Amino acid sequence: YHVDWDLSAAEKDGHDWFMRKEIFEQPHAVADSLLGRRTRTGELQLDEMRLSDQELRDIDKIIIIAAGTSFYAGMVAKYAIEHWCRIPVEVELSSEFRYRDPILDYSTLVVAISQSGETADTLQAIRHARLQRSKVLAICNTNGSTIPRESDAVIYTHAGPEIGVASTKGFVTQLVACYLLALYLAQVKGTRFGDEIADVVHQLEAIPGHMSTVLDRAEEVYELARDHVGERTVLFLGRHAGYPIALEGALKLKELAYIHAEGFAGGELKHGPIALIDEGMPVLCVVPPKGRDQLHGKMLSAIQEVRARGARTICLAEEGDRSAAAVADTVIELPKVPVLLQPLLAVVPLQLFACELATAMGHDVDQPRNLAKSVTVE
Ligand code: G6P
Repeated sequence: YHVDWDLSAAEKDGHDWFMRKEIFEQPHAVADSLLGRRTRTGELQLDEMRLSDQELRDIDKIIIIAAGTSFYAGMVAKYAIEHWCRIPVEVELSSEFRYRDPILDYSTLVVAISQSGETADTLQAIRHARLQRSKVLAICNTNGSTIPRESDAVIYTHAGPEIGVASTKGFVTQLVACYLLALYLAQVKGTRFGDEIADVVHQLEAIPGHMSTVLDRAEEVYELARDHVGERTVLFLGRHAGYPIALEGALKLKELAYIHAEGFAGGELKHGPIALIDEGMPVLCVVPPKGRDQLHGKMLSAIQEVRARGARTICLAEEGDRSAAAVADTVIELPKVPVLLQPLLAVVPLQLFACELATAMGHDVDQPRNLAKSVTVE
């Protein structure tokens, strides 16, 4: 009698790839990264913070440094921190940071985002920042790794080990850590009322459930992905917090499927990218939720523009958004959340899309050619 069990499939919970397993672990990972962040009275607490309230109040500028997917988490963080805390934020690639003679002093907080905690460019950047007397806060997934050890403070993301080279649960938990940092700064600096902060924390706590809803519809995304085998170029559009997600969607497709992909801000289309649009070119669009601002309408007109030139539009839009459906060849629905939190949901179909498309093309999703999980050389 022979029991047919496969160690490697067991390690992957029955999934074909670690990446796919990690995509499906995201609701859990987000819940874990939110765990224990509130006191009994409802205030936010970040226990590995190690910077005093006074030190945080003295901060008048934040520079976020990161590489790859972590850089896009930093771009989302800028929208959140500036909105909730009114502190100016710059986001910079770690590899560029110290070579441009950045303006740093004790009132600048440098936030280094790194899943592995070992990326050489990011490590060198924080060493440079500390030499200039800036405080460094690390957002990191790997306990005891070099970047948090060399930082003044750390927020661990608690996603659990990430094996797939392309970051997924690492990314969404970085987003959670960035939101928590933003809300914590708002609490300490008093730029937002406690009720409002508690409200956002509640909305964050609902994210795992919403993510599961998105994951329940994975098969729709897989079918779509398989229809795009052989594609030469895929474009991604987003606005506001959806813009970094467009960039991340494009990065995933490059990394895994080796397809040329680019992400653009919806408003930039007319300044060049629209010239790329060709009959049948797929354009994935992250549609912001309807709100008081004009983001939603402006994004829809950008989608109409590409569609009028022959693009096939795939829209990630809020459930029941009929005006988005009207300009879309395909709609992928997302549960209703505020625009700042939408990245947590919108990125999921893009991960599934890249994973499935690469699988259908016969690529090794967990170990894409030429890439490393953590790049420890500059
Ligand atoms: C490599 C990985 C990416 C990752 C980037 C930054 O390029 O392949 O998935 O986003 O490094 O890594 P870090 O560990 O610093 O977040």
